[in-house]
Amino acid sequence: MGHRKIRHKVYEELEITGLSSEGLGIARVDEKVVFVEQCIPGDVVRARTFQRRKNFEKARILALTKPSIDRQAHFCKHFESCGGCKWQYLPYAKQIAFKDQIVSDAFARLAKVEVGVRLPILPAKETEFYRNKLEYTFSTNRWFTKEEIATGEDLDFRALGFHVPGQHTKVVDIDKCYLQNEFSNKLRNAVREYALEKDLVFYNIKIREGFLRNLVVRTASTGEILVILIVNEDNDALLPLMAFIKEKFPEITSLNYIINPKLNDTYFDQTPICYSGKSFIIEKLGKFSFKVRPKSFFQTNTSQGERLYDVVKNFAALQGTETLYDLYAGVGSIGLYLSDNCNKLVGIEQIDQAVEDAKENAKLNAVENADFHVGDVRLLLNADFLAKNGQPDILITDPPRGGMHPEILQTILKARVPKIVYVSCNPSTQARDIAALDEFYKVVKMQAIDMFPHTVHIENVALLELK
Ligand SMILES: C[S@@+](CC[C@H](N)C(=O)[O-])C[C@H]1O[C@@H](n2cnc3c(N)ncnc32)[C@H](O)[C@@H]1O
Repeated sequence: MGHRKIRHKVYEELEITGLSSEGLGIARVDEKVVFVEQCIPGDVVRARTFQRRKNFEKARILALTKPSIDRQAHFCKHFESCGGCKWQYLPYAKQIAFKDQIVSDAFARLAKVEVGVRLPILPAKETEFYRNKLEYTFSTNRWFTKEEIATGEDLDFRALGFHVPGQHTKVVDIDKCYLQNEFSNKLRNAVREYALEKDLVFYNIKIREGFLRNLVVRTASTGEILVILIVNEDNDALLPLMAFIKEKFPEITSLNYIINPKLNDTYFDQTPICYSGKSFIIEKLGKFSFKVRPKSFFQTNTSQGERLYDVVKNFAALQGTETLYDLYAGVGSIGLYLSDNCNKLVGIEQIDQAVEDAKENAKLNAVENADFHVGDVRLLLNADFLAKNGQPDILITDPPRGGMHPEILQTILKARVPKIVYVSCNPSTQARDIAALDEFYKVVKMQAIDMFPHTVHIENVALLELK
């Protein structure tokens, strides 16, 4: 079957007048909405469509004819090709204003949900080097800029860095990244230098061959550092490379490798081998300690993560007598953070490894009133479960971007839980879900927290009470 031909269209002068919830610029042409990547209101652009539907089109910029007065110069040299920090051409205060607008559009305009008090958005204290985890990819298919190609020099196709957005096979060779502290930059560059010098084979994603696959770096606020090198096979080069990392970076407290011979990069079903140090690091949120193992999930912005949990704690206003449910609990961090202010904590999470971590974290913090259950919230949270584990006085829910299944919302409606704290990384699905609870619940207050500066993402917390 042949490919269907898409007829692209070039717009000579598109004026961007709005911003979508995904952070795309919005232009209107006759009855049609055109979403343009990498644009902000006030820009005038020449753009070419790459997707055309009856009511909307999506386009990429060919030229920025007239930049919005809100634009500033970007600070990272990898900006044009890398997928991270896409909003760095916007001053941080403007980013916050746009994120605020995204939240208010989701509730007021799209879902038409009334909100009692909207507290001001909490901006990040650090707008650079704020991540505690990064994953780099080795590749034989390096992305080159036009300038690099124009030099006419012999180009080395090996790279260690991040995938080019929308181009799964290409990797930007990263020299300096502003997302994680300087250790991460030093380690990545030293490992690449060693690999090039020893002529180690980088992974070729097209033919699924090669030795070096990924490098994962986790830096905790306690100063502990966990590193995982992921390779395709165990060969003679592996242990000398591990020894090099160990010797050059004695500050690493947990050095691991994973042999992943599978066709995809996911290593969650593979076994990490601890080469030196401990098999985990300790991360702290407030007075609570969390064991973070190579495959554990953890909030990637520690300091904003703590502020997020403080907002949840504040909204929950626990008295000490309550049965508290923590849905989509991950490693139990929100529930544990609130555990000494409630009578009983019941957590539900579908990944069994995360539930194991949650149980271990409860022990580590001497929390004795917590129970964590493995399972899909939709299947587990039913009348029987509630009868067995106690009717919740307050329910915290922190679902993935897609939000909550309608059946779960029905269970909550039936249970008439007095208070709900809904934490979300996607205000549109959050507003949609809250609209579905409208018959019995009102939004008392809401506050957004910026966990990811220079991106369109925003975390939002809403407190719901029975009407
Ligand atoms: C946004 S994370 C929240 C994690 C945690 N609350 C925290 O603050 O670190 C969403 C979590 O929901 C889990 N999850 C996704 N779908 C689920 C489902 N249907 N049932 C149970 N857990 C689910 C994911 O594995 C993930 O750990």
